[in-house]
Amino acid sequence: MATAQRLVVAGATGKQGGALISALLSKQSQPFEIYALTRKKTSRAAQALAGKPNVHVIEGDFKDPDAIFKQVDRPWGFFSVTMPINAKKEEQEGKAMTKAAIQAGVKHIVFTATERGGPTKSDTESTNVPHFISKYNIEQDIIDKAAQSEQGTTWTFLRPVAFMENLSNDFLGRGFVAMWRLNGSDRKLQLIGTKDIGKVAAEAFLNSETEEYRNKAISLAGDEISPNEAAQIFKEVTGEDIPWTYGFVGSMLRFVLYQHLGIMFNWFASHGFGADVKALRQRYPFLQDFRTWVAEESAWKKA
Ligand SMILES: NC(=O)c1ccc[n+]([C@@H]2O[C@H](COP(=O)([O-])OP(=O)(O)OC[C@H]3O[C@@H](n4cnc5c(N)ncnc54)[C@H](OP(=O)(O)O)[C@@H]3O)[C@@H](O)[C@H]2O)c1
Repeated sequence: MATAQRLVVAGATGKQGGALISALLSKQSQPFEIYALTRKKTSRAAQALAGKPNVHVIEGDFKDPDAIFKQVDRPWGFFSVTMPINAKKEEQEGKAMTKAAIQAGVKHIVFTATERGGPTKSDTESTNVPHFISKYNIEQDIIDKAAQSEQGTTWTFLRPVAFMENLSNDFLGRGFVAMWRLNGSDRKLQLIGTKDIGKVAAEAFLNSETEEYRNKAISLAGDEISPNEAAQIFKEVTGEDIPWTYGFVGSMLRFVLYQHLGIMFNWFASHGFGADVKALRQRYPFLQDFRTWVAEESAWKKA
């Protein structure tokens, strides 16, 4: 590629978008001018991005997608992340961002969605989890709009399982472990480190025309473990007990945040993610297992 391709990255100050930018910038050479989207240019995270080579920070909100893409002359790529607090709104915003991206001439979209029970099921089943359904519908909309686009837009869907970063050193992190344990101490859950999602997203942009990434969806997981196994690994690595809170707090969170968390944790128990961890590790040897993530990425990582 002779000239730099312009890449619009949503969620640039967040976990997945940030990981994509880090992955691209870690390459010896990469062909992109990165347009990192934030709602607030003056935030610390946005300022940190602004200091990086080939990164331009742009301000905008998913509420007004056209205003975002107007700031970028002939964008080539778009990394799409959506916000799931309200699934209906997520779907509307996700679809509106796709529309604006394709109207602006974007040639390749990488949309990070969620795993829905294995690659085959994820292609056809939206599940009963509101913010999985919204992502399924955004995927279908991208397929339709890309097929109708004048420029022949292509896409890659990344479908990550639960983030290892859910295990944070705060109330939410403790609550996550408590909610997880309620499904059974030996019931396994697939997990992924968000840094690895960024690495695969970078590969998808760098190799967008290949058979592997062109109009393909990839389930992503780095490990599959139970709460008991997680607690043991955590203790071995940090010498501390895994942070968690009482079961009744977990039950309360699942009840109070039923639409967002309760239905999802019930789905983990009744269906569950279905990524092929072994095959993924062979394809992407950098995928972290939980032990590596605790030791090298988590808030408890060794100094
Ligand atoms: N947690 C999990 O286990 C898990 C698993 C699979 C999928 N997911 C999905 O991952 C997605 C979240 O991704 P993430 O964790 O990487 O994000 P994140 O770390 O929570 O960061 C959110 C990002 O979105 C930006 N943002 C938020 N609202 C915006 C708006 N209205 N307009 C423009 N930008 C906005 C923020 O930018 P500024 O604050 O700078 O504006 C920030 O960069 C969700 O859809 C979630 O369902 C999560």
